[in-house]
Amino acid sequence: MFPMAGKDIFILGIESSCDDTSAAVIRNDQLLSNIIANQDVHTYYGGVVPELASRSHQQNIIPVIHAALDKANIKKNQIHAVSFTRGPGLLGSLLVGTSFAKAFSLGLSIPLIEVDHLEAHVLAHFIREPGSSSAVPSFPFLCLTVSGGHTQIGLIRDYFDMEIIGRTIDDAAGEAFDKAAKILGLPYPGGPYIDRLAKTGNPSAFRFPKPRISGLDFSFSGLKTSFLYFVRDRLKENPGFVEENMADLCASMQQHIVDILMDNLMKAVRQTKITDVAIAGGVSANSSLRQAVTDQTLTRGWQVFVPKFEYTTDNAAMIAISGYFKYLNHDYSGYTVAPYSRSLRS
Ligand code: KG4
Ligand code: ZN
Repeated sequence: MFPMAGKDIFILGIESSCDDTSAAVIRNDQLLSNIIANQDVHTYYGGVVPELASRSHQQNIIPVIHAALDKANIKKNQIHAVSFTRGPGLLGSLLVGTSFAKAFSLGLSIPLIEVDHLEAHVLAHFIREPGSSSAVPSFPFLCLTVSGGHTQIGLIRDYFDMEIIGRTIDDAAGEAFDKAAKILGLPYPGGPYIDRLAKTGNPSAFRFPKPRISGLDFSFSGLKTSFLYFVRDRLKENPGFVEENMADLCASMQQHIVDILMDNLMKAVRQTKITDVAIAGGVSANSSLRQAVTDQTLTRGWQVFVPKFEYTTDNAAMIAISGYFKYLNHDYSGYTVAPYSRSLRS
């Protein structure tokens, strides 16, 4: 599955599934550039406003693609194929990346390659940086993908052979972080704020009930409600409760979410007997989750793969590497391809 010696393949990847406009250029599996334009406008509303997201994508996409090509020192006509996120995500946002990719492909007569956003989060582990020799996972491995929209455990048999063996039945882990942050009056997205504030807090200060759910599935909606009621009741007794206990509240909530994730990940390892374990998605940037998974190297002998920070939250580098593997398989899309908002696997 690797290119003939001497023949370099250049892929342009485009990601626009939510509120980040991103473009990346890859030479084979080596990343040359990865440009991300964030949309601050949503912070004001406390969550992503779909209409504003798609408008910002329209404004950002051309400068972002120019910047990715420039940084990679590559001309448009050197690109062998363009890959784009087809879904899941916000339809209006996805349409911007999809339409641009189609036009780019048609204009240059190069293959168009659709990529599934969740598969791409997993395949981010295969991105190599020039000069770096970090290990990539070998098949099969388990991957806990945790983001603002998804929480799932995949049994990864090959690049595009991924069986989902556990998934959330309601909210995603990232939503639990973001909603808890909102209750505490922190900005959106709240995950990184909770992570930072938790560093000086006591993770055992407050306890919350664990969801009762069988198998490898997750549930986070009950936690959101119990946290809301817990804070509301304490505020009735002491209006300064949140300010006085901010670090402990963040540390306890973070610990609780990480415990729920780790319980199922350990269960999945026991069931499958696969001890090569990766984490992916925006929440895999969380320092406590990264530490909890890494600790299993010593305590349980797992081989652990934790992504570099820049490949945890949404980025086009993961779309470019996925496009590269599909390009090698000649797995191209037709021009009638349309975005999808919900996962095709659930
Ligand atoms: O993968 P991603 O960028 O977008 C989706 O595909 O959803 O994930 C975004 C999510 C948000 O919920 C954000 O709060 C969370 O990832 N996140 C974090 C951290 N960094 C980002 N959650 C906890 N700790 C972090 N350090
Ligand atoms: Zn994502």
